[in-house]
Amino acid sequence: MKQTKIVLSEKEIPKQWYNIMADMPNLPKPPLHPGTQQPIGPDDLSAIFPMALIEQEVSQERWIDIPEEVLDIYSLWRPAPLYRAHRLEKALGTPAKIYYKYEGVSPAGSHKPNTSIPQAFYNKKAGINKIATETGAGQWGCSMALAGSLFGLDVTVYMVKVSYNQKPYRRIMMETWGSAVHPSPSLLTQTGKKALDDDPDNPGSLGLAISEAVEDAATHDDTNYALGSVLNHVCLHQTIIGLEAKKQMEIAGDYPDIVIGCCGGGSNLAGIGFPYVQDKIAGKDVRVIAVEPASCPTLTKGDFRYDFGDVAGLTPYMMMYTLGHNFIPPGIHAGGLRYHADSQLVCQLYHDGLIEAKAYHQLTVFEAALQFANTESIIPAPETAHAIKAAIDEALICKEEGKEKTILFNLSGHGYFDLQAYTDYKEGKLSDYEYPEEKIKEALSQLPIIK
Ligand SMILES: Cc1ncc(COP(=O)(O)O)c(C=O)c1O
Repeated sequence: MKQTKIVLSEKEIPKQWYNIMADMPNLPKPPLHPGTQQPIGPDDLSAIFPMALIEQEVSQERWIDIPEEVLDIYSLWRPAPLYRAHRLEKALGTPAKIYYKYEGVSPAGSHKPNTSIPQAFYNKKAGINKIATETGAGQWGCSMALAGSLFGLDVTVYMVKVSYNQKPYRRIMMETWGSAVHPSPSLLTQTGKKALDDDPDNPGSLGLAISEAVEDAATHDDTNYALGSVLNHVCLHQTIIGLEAKKQMEIAGDYPDIVIGCCGGGSNLAGIGFPYVQDKIAGKDVRVIAVEPASCPTLTKGDFRYDFGDVAGLTPYMMMYTLGHNFIPPGIHAGGLRYHADSQLVCQLYHDGLIEAKAYHQLTVFEAALQFANTESIIPAPETAHAIKAAIDEALICKEEGKEKTILFNLSGHGYFDLQAYTDYKEGKLSDYEYPEEKIKEALSQLPIIK
């Protein structure tokens, strides 16, 4: 009988995360303090992060131990299964072998708890009892709420207002795990009040919600901030995905020619991809592809330069491919991919040619999601469907060229709270947004000048 699922036992959960900074040919340029334009130090971050995470942010140790307490919680759903997509392969008529790692088995439904759990652990250990964070479509907010419930932390989530109104079930999930959820912009922060003064109907954005959460943490001694992507320590925690996948691919007797992940802030791509980029740096022939929306084409159309990570300019300047921190991407359904920039690590690797990037419009992405749902059965999150589309395209190229390549992608989350998006697609209410060139030009023209 052919094997479909490759599962590891709990004993085989990796005990260390992989830190790509130990192997990168060029490290990212340092984050800068916006006032002095000098590299920031640990003290600049200690108002909102615990020291253990600040150390991970700058560490160049190749392997970092995963604490026992974190492994214990990971074992609730990890190791995550790896699937061979026999049915999709057959439907495509491709000689390619397609594998996917399924992160939708976490209680929150995506890869995000891989980092919310350690972030909650290190904060609790540092004596912090309150966390402020933001969420776009709700995946990260749910993951932080879950972690807060497991470690006894009070979590406040600033949820982008349009999602707060459109996605009540994600909000209810967070509240069920004991978190307080506020629509952003809110009246709880100066940033929120200003945004509402300027426009009482402001629908919110991820960059604005980040500003509110950072302000909350920076103005309350007992509160820290947690971010669900972008930062080095977040990418580090996600590498458990690729490390498990490597063991599973070995059991399957295969090694991928192509590794694919959708890319919002970059942590999902880092998770599945960085352990393979390590091999690529060592000389192995493997392609790692980041997939993004054509309406928010950070890597494929952004500028590589210093920018803020949020709208209000509360974060340090980071060296990233960016569309400009004031750029508000069109309201596509893949809310988790609507971020103006990307992880500094992903950006540097892209700049150095160690990863590739592709962008797709949303209609073709939903078509791929439906093909996947009707072959492999899992209904994917709209974000994840970007990776599926790229995997299908690569498999079709193999068909054309008669090549039997091995393709691995990360199925970063299920789409069971995104069914409105599927309804809208079925009813023909979704459209492709043109690449918003003028808006991006305008946002880029407002970027800080670094002397
Ligand atoms: C299901 C899913 N996949 C991927 C992403 C993108 O994540 P990242 O920021 O790690 O690139 C998100 C972000 O919210 C998500 O919800």
